[in-house]
Amino acid sequence: METVALDDAAKQIVIIDQTKLPNERRMLRLSSLKEFYDAIYLLQVRGAPAIGVFAAFAAYIDACSTDASDHDTFFGKWSDDLDYLNSSRPTAVNLSWALTRMRKVVEDHADEPIPQILDCLRDEALLIRKEDEASCRAIGENALTLLKPGYGLLTHCNAGCLATSRYGTATAAMYLGHERGYDFHIYCDETRPLLQGARLTAFELAEAGLDVTLQCDNMVASLMATGKIDAVLVGCDRVAANGDTANKIGTSVVATVAKHYGIPFYVCGPMSTIDPSIETGADIPIEQRKGEEVTDMWYSSRMAPSGIKVYNPAFDVTDHSLITAIITDRGICYPPFCFT
Ligand code: MRU
Repeated sequence: METVALDDAAKQIVIIDQTKLPNERRMLRLSSLKEFYDAIYLLQVRGAPAIGVFAAFAAYIDACSTDASDHDTFFGKWSDDLDYLNSSRPTAVNLSWALTRMRKVVEDHADEPIPQILDCLRDEALLIRKEDEASCRAIGENALTLLKPGYGLLTHCNAGCLATSRYGTATAAMYLGHERGYDFHIYCDETRPLLQGARLTAFELAEAGLDVTLQCDNMVASLMATGKIDAVLVGCDRVAANGDTANKIGTSVVATVAKHYGIPFYVCGPMSTIDPSIETGADIPIEQRKGEEVTDMWYSSRMAPSGIKVYNPAFDVTDHSLITAIITDRGICYPPFCFT
């Protein structure tokens, strides 16, 4: 199953609704700008690379709905639509990265008739997806050089197949190692409050036949103290020029505890997630989400006093000093990090 698929004949994007997993495999066929925005905001599609691929397909389908006969009208409306899509979630840079690539296609083909521009947009979106798959595989190959058979590996959130076109980023070496008999023991954090680890990572790794154990986020120190974890592999939503990395809330806790126990902490991501325009993690925009995700979601009745104030950032920044290496599709980067 493809995480994000294009049905070009129907002018629809086909995704599995990740909010329903693992209990229900519900496919969604999306065709309007509002549906595209909601799918990203509601996390029906999520994970930095998958959001980028989805946004590219969304930009193409939105362009196809144009009834403009002149370029200025077409480009003006489409550009506004892309700005709206770009406002759906602020942290993962892959969203704006993919939309910028799509905008450039229109700029580069500005002299051509609109139907030809639409063909170029479709080709670019499909290329973004193809490149993502190749990047994930390359990340997996690079990460595997750092791991030994029998290792216990910890991951946080879902940086797996469901977050990318294939293989995942943090999970790519796990899948490749599984194919090659590495016999890894994977430990996956539940990932409060939206449970991407429990609902998605545990689901996809177990389905693929990997040895996976689930624990609550607050069990990480206890788990590391047992000596069962040899390395941590996580994904990323945006990496600043100095290596500070935004990823799912709780990642920096895992990195801090890993440092305490002397366990290598690896960040895995494609070059499209590195944002050299941002100097340090302090400047990465962090998405704040609704308090209900903490107080109500997953419970049959509210689990906190009504009216209580809730702090619910969706991401945190792991300081570069806690990161052993950043594993990209182009190679492994060691400190001092300096992305340009
Ligand atoms: O809020 P989410 O589920 O989109 O957050 C996802 C993560 O934090 C992932 O670790 C990150 O996007 C990398 S996915 C390869």
